[in-house]
Amino acid sequence: MLRDWQTLFAPRPLATRALCLQLDGLAFPLWFASTDAADLKEVLPVDFLTAAEQARAGEFKFGQPRENFTLGRLAGKLALTGAMDARPPQTPGLSPDGTAGEALERKLRAFDIHNGERGEPLVRAGDDKLPTLAVSLSHVNGLGTAVAFPAGERVGMDLELIDAQRAETVRRGVPLSVEEEAWLRITSLPEATALLLLWTAREALGKALGCGLACQWETLALREIEAAGDGVWRGRFRHHPEFSCLCWVGPAAVISTAFTAR
Ligand SMILES: CC(C)(COP(=O)(O)OP(=O)(O)OC[C@H]1O[C@@H](n2cnc3c(N)ncnc32)[C@H](O)[C@@H]1OP(=O)(O)O)[C@@H](O)C(=O)NCCC(=O)NCCS
Repeated sequence: MLRDWQTLFAPRPLATRALCLQLDGLAFPLWFASTDAADLKEVLPVDFLTAAEQARAGEFKFGQPRENFTLGRLAGKLALTGAMDARPPQTPGLSPDGTAGEALERKLRAFDIHNGERGEPLVRAGDDKLPTLAVSLSHVNGLGTAVAFPAGERVGMDLELIDAQRAETVRRGVPLSVEEEAWLRITSLPEATALLLLWTAREALGKALGCGLACQWETLALREIEAAGDGVWRGRFRHHPEFSCLCWVGPAAVISTAFTAR
């Protein structure tokens, strides 16, 4: 789906891959952790999850939700580790050949990501100091993605695999704004992709606001959206003019971020 994946934990036979994507216009890089179900069994969550996170992972009865949770945590911790790193965002925490090994695992374990009352991710650093970083994350089957940013800023992200059935659910279940409908008629994107872009942008805003989808969905609607080149789209929201969104359309997935203008 994306170029330039780096392999994590390379000595293991089946490795998890990681990728850092910098979108022009977003101050913070997006991190991805990818694997398939078989791979994840080789990357022992005990290597990078805290005890509390391992307990939470153990609460999932079925494999896929547990793996999605774990991939989301891995992406979140990579993003946090990267944000702590003084080096440029293309390389944080990872050596060029991907063999970061135990040092990276230790850094990842130093962050605990738990959830607040509304489900929002909360970061605790091992030193018990007040967290200086926050994270937003999303996970679908085999892919976790996250963005880390200074605590106090409001950023949300959402990811959807491009899937006709999922798009149809959006089409049937989500009343779109006049501007969203107008954009759907003129956009060069295939309709399923365009619908999922609108949906992920709304979910990203819900996460940035901290309510998720537990709100009137029309309050998350977009009022404008335009192509910014290279598969990137920029937008503004109808009821939250203080937020912008940046969406990235890949061959298999759509990722949106919502954030307040700096
Ligand atoms: C937040 C929400 C939009 C998640 O969307 P999703 O597409 O199912 O799942 P994603 O993988 O994209 O995101 C999941 C992550 O969002 C984050 N999240 C959950 N609630 C959040 C909130 N209120 N604010 C910000 N982030 C939130 C969490 O980190 C979660 O991952 P984790 O549980 O592993 O930590 C959705 O679950 C929601 O709105 N929940 C609120 C409660 C609610 O309305 N429940 C009924 C839903 S029908």
